[in-house]
Amino acid sequence: MQSGVVQMMEESKDHLVGGRTNQTRAFPRRLLQLLMLFLLLCFTFSVASIYMIKYFGFHSIVPTVKPSLQPCIEEEWKNIELWINPPSNLLHTMNDKELVWRASMAPKIKKYPFKRDPKIAFMFLTKGPLPLAPIWERFFKRHQGFYSIYIHSLPSFEADFPASSVFYKRQIPSQVTEWGKMSMCDAERRLLANALLDISNEWFVLLSESCIPIYNFNVIYKYISQSKHSFVGAFDDPGPFGRGRYDENMLPEVNISQWRKGSQWFEISRKLALYIVEDTKFYPKFAEFCRPACYVDEHYFPTMLTIQASNLLANRSITWVDWSRGGAHPATFGISDITEEFMKRMLGERSCMYNDRNTSVCYLFARKFAPSALEPLFLLAPKYLGF
Ligand SMILES: *[C@@H]1O[C@H](CO)[C@@H](O)[C@H](O)[C@H]1NC(C)=O
Ligand SMILES: *[C@@H]1O[C@H](CO)[C@@H](O)[C@H](O)[C@H]1NC(C)=O
Ligand SMILES: *[C@@H]1O[C@H](CO)[C@@H](O)[C@H](O)[C@H]1NC(C)=O
Repeated sequence: MQSGVVQMMEESKDHLVGGRTNQTRAFPRRLLQLLMLFLLLCFTFSVASIYMIKYFGFHSIVPTVKPSLQPCIEEEWKNIELWINPPSNLLHTMNDKELVWRASMAPKIKKYPFKRDPKIAFMFLTKGPLPLAPIWERFFKRHQGFYSIYIHSLPSFEADFPASSVFYKRQIPSQVTEWGKMSMCDAERRLLANALLDISNEWFVLLSESCIPIYNFNVIYKYISQSKHSFVGAFDDPGPFGRGRYDENMLPEVNISQWRKGSQWFEISRKLALYIVEDTKFYPKFAEFCRPACYVDEHYFPTMLTIQASNLLANRSITWVDWSRGGAHPATFGISDITEEFMKRMLGERSCMYNDRNTSVCYLFARKFAPSALEPLFLLAPKYLGF
């Protein structure tokens, strides 16, 4: 470039040096003519450009502008990601009313316009610590993307899971709960509502700190994802602890033949989770007319879901519990209970219906285990539970 300019200047210098005076006087006029021609060309080109922009659009003549439009397209894409990515921080500041309202929003179009790996939401309803956490950590290992975890504990409890734990920062804003009271159902609803905020969660399992999984992740994922029914315990108990707890004040929303009883430890689909979260019809009736000795956590969801979607219910729980010792509470197993014989009994031959067929696998989770049961369970899990 520079050498070219120098050459041109040298050529003009040659002209000046070798030329006569009339030639040097003629030079500015020719330069002026050239300049005028150049300006005219510029003007014509500008006018032509404006017309071409008007009639053929921007892109056709100025393709270099395209990259500057790209960020706009990317921002639109970011907007859909805002809707499909789960919240990065579970500790929001919404109150229950706001949370439930937000969680009740559901897309009308059934087909998702993006790749969606449906996840199981494992929802832990606890007092505080998770003494059996090491078993769960091993259970979840290498299955990222197919599960999410939510923990509802006493508000005063401060979790201190290490950053490497699957339970790290999985606590949701919680409130005090009492067994057998509506605050228990509120906590379950709170867990469901928080889990619904992640559009990828398709199934929702309620667990406690004394629960363990009794099959490996793949078996449990397949069992739940391929089931036509949700696993909610719901049966019509004619006795004093069943129909005996029904109050006629619940009419007309609930009549005696619709009244159901069942264990609170459920597994439900996203559709049923929405029924629970958006319910304003049955909630006030249960809150007012099912108080101890009517234990609302044993009746509200089984009855409400039976009325709204009985065809989607398996009417049985998938959480095994041992009532054989009798009494008001099921057996709690500690270190001395966990033997090979116990494991065989827990997994023993059974028969129940799965997708309208007989199966021997009726339970996927078990309770209740004391913290002392951790060590023997951890040792026996690879042989008996497959993880
Ligand atoms: C309860 O309600 C259902 C649905 O409305 C109805 O079919 C049934 O006959 C009622 N049962 C009684 C005992 O009223
Ligand atoms: C569960 O019970 C309801 C009646 O409460 C019934 O309609 C439904 O078919 C039952 N589900 C299965 C899988 O048997
Ligand atoms: C399921 O198994 C039980 C007990 O093994 C048997 O009584 C029942 O007839 C079987 N039902 C079906 C549908 O095969």
